[in-house]
Parts: sequence; C-alpha cells; structure tokens
Amino acid sequence: MYDTLIVVVGGLVAAAAGLWAWRRWHPASFWYGVAFPARAVLVYLTWRHVAAGCGLTRRRRRWRWTLDAVPVVGPAARGAATVVEQKRRMRRVDVERAPRLGVLRPTALGWRLRVRLHDGQVPADYERAAEGIAHAWRVHSVRVVDVRPGVVTLWATMRDPLTDVTVSPVTDRLLTVRPGKLENGADWVIDLRTVPHWLIAGATQSGKSNLANAIIKGLAPQPVALVGFDLKGGVEFTPYAPRLSALATTRSECVELLGGLVAELEARMALCRKHGARNVWTLPGELRPVPVVVLVDEVAELFLMADKSEKDEVAKTSTALLRVAQLGRAFAVHLVVCGQRIGSDLGPGVTALRAQLSGRVCHRVNDPETASMTLGDMDPAALEAARGIPAETPGVCVVAGQDGSWHRARSVYVSETDAEQAARDHAHLTPSWAEVTGSSSVTDLRPDMPDAA
Ligand SMILES: Nc1ncnc2c1ncn2[C@@H]1O[C@H](COP(=O)(O)OP(=O)(O)O)[C@@H](O)[C@H]1O
Ligand SMILES: [Mg+2]
Repeated sequence: MYDTLIVVVGGLVAAAAGLWAWRRWHPASFWYGVAFPARAVLVYLTWRHVAAGCGLTRRRRRWRWTLDAVPVVGPAARGAATVVEQKRRMRRVDVERAPRLGVLRPTALGWRLRVRLHDGQVPADYERAAEGIAHAWRVHSVRVVDVRPGVVTLWATMRDPLTDVTVSPVTDRLLTVRPGKLENGADWVIDLRTVPHWLIAGATQSGKSNLANAIIKGLAPQPVALVGFDLKGGVEFTPYAPRLSALATTRSECVELLGGLVAELEARMALCRKHGARNVWTLPGELRPVPVVVLVDEVAELFLMADKSEKDEVAKTSTALLRVAQLGRAFAVHLVVCGQRIGSDLGPGVTALRAQLSGRVCHRVNDPETASMTLGDMDPAALEAARGIPAETPGVCVVAGQDGSWHRARSVYVSETDAEQAARDHAHLTPSWAEVTGSSSVTDLRPDMPDAA
C-alpha cells in the first residue's frame, strides 16, 4: 500500500522535475511540445465565454432539444405535492454563437489564429476587443493582423518581445541591415534598395545613436561607402573613421562634402544616360558605382546658424541635401538622417527634405508634434504607440515604411566599442573618397553578396 503511494508520488515528482528541467534547458521545444498544446486546448474550450465577455457573440435562434419541467398533477396531488415530470421537447431557443475559430498555429512567442467574422462585424470590433482577449488569454498582447474579407487573424504574443532583443545587424544582402526586432517577433529589416532614405527621430537618450551604430555595424562588412556628417564636433562618428570614406565635422567641410556628393550623383546620372540605364542597378556590373550611405547625426546642426555670415552656407547645405535625397534613390546614394525634431522651424528646405525621406523611425519624443511630424499622417494608433514609449526602454521606436504599415520595434544594443570594432575589422573595405567620386566601379557589386556574415 505504502509502496504504491511512494511509487506514485515519486513518479509525479520525477515528471514535474522533468518538465521543469525541459522548460529550463530547452524552452523552445517545451513551448511547442507542452505549453502550446495546453494553451490551445484552453483557448478552444474557453472561446465561447471569452467571445461573449468581449462582446463578439451573436444571438441566433436554433432548434434545440430542451428539457422542460412540466408540473403534473397526478395522484400525488392529493397529498398537496406537485410532481414534476421531465419532458424532452424540440423547440427554438436563443443561443449565443461565438465567431468560428480556425486552427491555432504556434509562433515562437505565441500563436496566430483565424477568426470568421459574424455578419455585420468589422475588423475594428476585434481591435476594440483585443485588449480584453489578451487579458482573458493571459498574454502580453493580441493584435489584429492580416484582414481579409470575412476573416481576421489574431496574433497573440505571450511576452513583450522588445524587452530583450538579440539579433545580429549583419545580413547577407547588399544594402540590407537587420537593426533589431519588431513587436510581432519578426526581424526588423531595413533594405535601402526598397526604402532608400530614412528619417530617425527621437529625444536625447532615446536610442538614435544606438540605431546608427547598428546600421554601421550591419553595413561595415558590405561593399558600400559610408559617409558621415557630424557637426557636433565629430564626437559621434570620428571613432568609426576607419570605415568612413568621408566625414564632415565643420560647416565648411559639410558644404564641400555635399558638393562632392551632388557632383558624384550628376556623374552617375550621366553614366546611366550614356548606357541607357534608368538607374545604377540596371548598369552592367563592371560599370556599377559603389553605393554610398550618408549618415547624418543631428540634422538640426546642419540648418542652425550661429550668425548671419553662415546664412549662405546653410542655404547651400539645404539645397544640396535635398538634391541628394531626390537623386539618391536611382543612383545608389542613401540618406540616414537622425534628429531630435525636423520641423519647418529649421528652415524652408527641411519640409521638402522630410518628404523625401520615406522610411521613418520615431523613438521616444518630447512633444507630440515631433511624433506626428515624423510619422506623418499615419494611423492614429501609430502616433499613440510612439507617444507611449517609456524612457526606461531606449531603442524602442515606431517604424513606418512606405506602404502605410507600421510596427513597434526595438534596435539591438550595439555599444560604441562594438561598432568601432566592426569599423576597424572592415577598414580594408573602405573605398577612399577619390575612389567613390571617380564614378568608376571600384568594388564588385553583386546585388546578392554570397557571404558577408
Ligand atoms: N536598443 C537599445 N537597447 C538597450 N539600450 C539602449 C538601446 N538603445 C540605446 N540604449 C541605451 O540608451 C542610451 C542612449 O542611447 P543613444 O543612442 O545615445 O541615444 P540618443 O543618440 O538618441 O541620444 C545609450 O547609452 C544606450 O546604452
Ligand atoms: Mg546621439
């Protein structure tokens, strides 16, 4: 008797310890093998209640067998007691019908699930209910993604994937970096050949320089030229000098360098015209000029003037920068512009420049206007998300691409030392400024590099 008890208890303890160890040492397989199936069963079993609680059910009249209690006055009635006879009957009753669920599919951080809308429901009903569903399912968040006619997909994530971001910014595609993670657990990928110019906004200490570090680290192993503009005395970019083809730290250098870039763009334009190509990517490989990525640390510095004497230089800077932005897409010169705010108060050229920077990243900002300036007329929910970024999580941002979609994201932490190391390690890939502006092909530019990692 005791023996069986000991065996049973021992078995249970061993099983619990085994599960604990499984979860501790191999969380991924534990999730797919144990935790997810358990969650899935719970989601299906409780869906009727969850949907009813979140106001997603509809009343329908259905034929149902019901049990009716019919009082019968029988012989017992004389004894002043009523006999209740249970009678089964077919009749129409009101039932609460929950929206039909599809197959629960696991993801690394949660699950995806399709839901069939009831007649008259719209995806916005589910967006409103998402928070309630997240609480009912005990998960970090539920988002409505991938809306199709009559069907929405709910994406549940168990924990905030942005609390701990570990990815490598290095990718094996030319002009593509992976600076961090998106909220849905996917990698955040910046492909400069799809979105050629980026505006990165954020208050001080919000993570702008960290993102620039990640981009530098990601681009350093690639056959591209990096150019820096750092008018805050060069303290930000000078450490990366080994990998920079040019660096401007004073206003006059800045005017000169931008002049050089514009001249180079015009040369590339002429080259393309001569060969009947619309852009540098359709040129024959051996003629293709090296792509240039221009990093600007604090754009306001380029536009602010200390006194009237700088007015001319500022005007030149502004025109040249705009020109680079306009021509850059076709001729492989890309802008990555950081700034605390880039509003019209910086001068007339700024609004036009901003319109050219189609990729937007908004970190924590001090004022709501900066968020709306950066994200433009996006979905109000994106602005809401940007305003809600707490100061404790530097690097968290809202990313908007060209197609109107947006994501919360976080850059991976890349210390200055790390980025400097990457710059030193790949110093041999740095084309000199003369080589860049020679408008001849200096590097073999295959669109897909075989291995850069
Ligand atoms: N993605 C991130 N993950 C963790 N810490 C970060 C991240 N981004 C920035 N930080 C921290 O926040 C601090 C400020 O970031 P920084 O990039 O210098 O801000 P900014 O350039 O906007 O003033 C840095 O010291 C860095 O340690
Ligand atoms: Mg900074």
